[in-house]
Amino acid sequence: MSQTILITGAGRGLGRELALQSHARGDRVLATMRAPERAADLPPEIEIYRLEVTKSESTAALASELKGEAVDLLVCNAGVFPGRGGLREANCSELDWFAGLMTNVAGPYFTVRDLLPNLQLSQHPRVAIIASVMGSNQNAAGGSYIYRASKAAAINLARNLAVELAPLGIAVGAYHPGWVRTDMGTEAAPVDVNHSATGLLERFAELSVETTGAFEDYLGNPVAF
Ligand SMILES: NC(=O)c1ccc[n+]([C@@H]2O[C@H](COP(=O)([O-])OP(=O)(O)OC[C@H]3O[C@@H](n4cnc5c(N)ncnc54)[C@H](OP(=O)(O)O)[C@@H]3O)[C@@H](O)[C@H]2O)c1
Repeated sequence: MSQTILITGAGRGLGRELALQSHARGDRVLATMRAPERAADLPPEIEIYRLEVTKSESTAALASELKGEAVDLLVCNAGVFPGRGGLREANCSELDWFAGLMTNVAGPYFTVRDLLPNLQLSQHPRVAIIASVMGSNQNAAGGSYIYRASKAAAINLARNLAVELAPLGIAVGAYHPGWVRTDMGTEAAPVDVNHSATGLLERFAELSVETTGAFEDYLGNPVAF
């Protein structure tokens, strides 16, 4: 069934692939990105909006532009991975911590909060937060401190949003896309972006108030947190 899907960070990587596949299957796609001028090669039917998720004035401006429009599926995909490595190798300045926590945690928070009226106009509203298995306490391998902490917080955010939004009929899930070949995942990653996006879209279709609060990977395996 056709739906309206809004994706953050849709200019490249996984977000872009989610936009392309959603468009190909007939969805109305609202692709949001920091630099729309870099997305000229997307199909013209895909609607492009500027969105910087770390700035609440940007999420509020998007909400104003979309006032009165139903959003069935909101995918909080935009993310950054600053400061890879351990304490001795990572370059984790205040700015790196700020970028990681603001993008990966506050970003989904501002986006969901400001687009809540749009979700409430949908018959089957869902929110998907792209987290990572690296945020799971069961997968604490050390290092990558900013990313691990931010994705742990993103999972926590998803689970608490699920509780608050359940009475409104809005389902919220957290997802691990696999280790995917994108700029972030690098060429070493085993999962093709096409395969990850296909699996994620299947997971989002299954999300409902009965399964809200789940944390799963792109293949549907539950991930311990
Ligand atoms: N790739 C993996 O192996 C992997 C594994 C687990 C989880 N994830 C998660 O999956 C999501 C997508 O990752 P990816 O692999 O596609 O990464 P990517 O190729 O680095 O793309 C990241 C996207 O996020 C956008 N973005 C970053 N900061 C933003 C901001 N402040 N406001 C708006 N957009 C912003 C980027 O936009 P610009 O082009 O403007 O920079 C870009 O479109 C992320 O949340 C990531 O943490 C990825």
